[in-house]
Amino acid sequence: MRFYITTPIYYPNSEPHIGTAYTTIACDVISRFYKQKNYDVFFLTGTDENSNKIIESANKVNKKPIEYVNEMAELFKNIWKNLDIEYTKFIRTTEDYHIKTAQFVFQKLYEQGYIYKGLYEGWYCIHCETFWTTSKVDDSKLCPNIECRRPLNYIKEENYFFKLSAFEDKLLKYYEDNPDFVYPDYRFNEVVSFVKSGLQDLSVSRKYNNWGIRVPFDQDYSIYVWIDALTNYISALGYPFELDLFDKYWEVSHHMVGKDIIRFHAVIWPAILMALNIKLPKKIIAHGWLMYDNQKISKSKGGDIFNLKEIALSNDKIKISALRYYLLREGSFGQDIPVSLERFKYIYTSELSNNIGNLFSRVLAIIEKKLNKYVFKESDFSYIQNSFINERLSNFDKELSNFNYSKAVLEILNLADYLNKIIENYKVWEIKDKNLNQIMYELVYSLVVLNKMLYPFMPFIANNILEQLNLPLESLKWDYTIPDSFNIKERKILFPKIENVLA
Ligand code: MSP
Repeated sequence: MRFYITTPIYYPNSEPHIGTAYTTIACDVISRFYKQKNYDVFFLTGTDENSNKIIESANKVNKKPIEYVNEMAELFKNIWKNLDIEYTKFIRTTEDYHIKTAQFVFQKLYEQGYIYKGLYEGWYCIHCETFWTTSKVDDSKLCPNIECRRPLNYIKEENYFFKLSAFEDKLLKYYEDNPDFVYPDYRFNEVVSFVKSGLQDLSVSRKYNNWGIRVPFDQDYSIYVWIDALTNYISALGYPFELDLFDKYWEVSHHMVGKDIIRFHAVIWPAILMALNIKLPKKIIAHGWLMYDNQKISKSKGGDIFNLKEIALSNDKIKISALRYYLLREGSFGQDIPVSLERFKYIYTSELSNNIGNLFSRVLAIIEKKLNKYVFKESDFSYIQNSFINERLSNFDKELSNFNYSKAVLEILNLADYLNKIIENYKVWEIKDKNLNQIMYELVYSLVVLNKMLYPFMPFIANNILEQLNLPLESLKWDYTIPDSFNIKERKILFPKIENVLA
């Protein structure tokens, strides 16, 4: 069984921030989860480097665009590595193989009559890389995107157009036949009504200005950066030159995107794929935005509440693990998510430190002090209900398979609460007779299950727990058979007091 998951490729004109980290962590959690279930997973991320705004950003720091993107791509890789993002491949759209694929795609669309030359006249926002029709632009001549509102450029030039309008009916038919194509369903409904309201042909080239991928049959133009960017999902798999990976993974492809770029992925990209005669991706998953002060967080707005670069490069693994957990445990997937330092501290203390951390430390302390670090299965389960644990695990599986991260986390908390209650109800710390071994065995058994669920969210913590329980890496796998005895190791605090984590 296979699974292909992609993040959008990020514009490297600004550093990664907590908002872009959210998408990347969400993909990492899913990728790790499928690996636990023995899927063969391909996880793709990367940088979208051919945008015009790169020129501006590079100029500002007196660098050549290529030097600038080289440095930024390294920074992205470094930050993702420090956030425990375990991607399979990092794609850069300035790399040769990608350029060849983007040009191949453009050429093929042209040859098949889906690209034609026409006159483009209208407004363009370099920052959003978006064309705006006159009707959308008010007297201010600022970008209609309320998150942007930067000055627009008026463009009147001969351009190449993609016949998007030709795909209206085919797309609607596809949506109807594939009701799970876009998740969540309210985003899908928005996509459907957008297409029903009528599609216009799309300008897909710009005058070449020494940056970007050239239109293969007309050197005066570069390929519109969004067309080039979307093809990354197949160029990364070698399409069309080396089809091994493509044949293996394309049919199980899942694109995770923010709600702001859903039309590119659920309308334009499918139309291009239809024109190329390539199967459509299996699913587009659209998440909401992280918000601060009612605004979408970006590098310049609210990005410093959680200074991602600082956190990542500090390599403080506990803080990083807690951040991964915090971002994904919040909200209902798909909706916007307000974040704040206060809320982070609260979640850290109540859920990680007092609930999960405390549970591990109580169980391990008793085994260390009273059972000489050893427990074994003496009888059938008589304290803990196995069915309750299995139900948590199967609900967790169901929720995460459906990208319901916060609901999956509730199963973790539910299990931790239950185990803490067992300790209290049986006053485990007072038991002196031989019953202690069996109840402690049952508790450690349950912790192994709990650890499987913690792993995709906080791999560092899960590995730390493995060490304490003296278990192999395989114990994180879904099909692992839990042993009949445990010889535990040195106990370590999983989540120290918040003051020591957030200095
Ligand atoms: N380069 C394009 C994507 C091309 S994919 C073929 C792009 N890049 S981006 O860097 O501007 O944004 C990348 C992703 O980050 C988007 O999915 C966007 O929604 C996400 N986020 C940026 N800020 C965000 C938040 N504050 N919260 C959540 N996600 C955010 O668009």
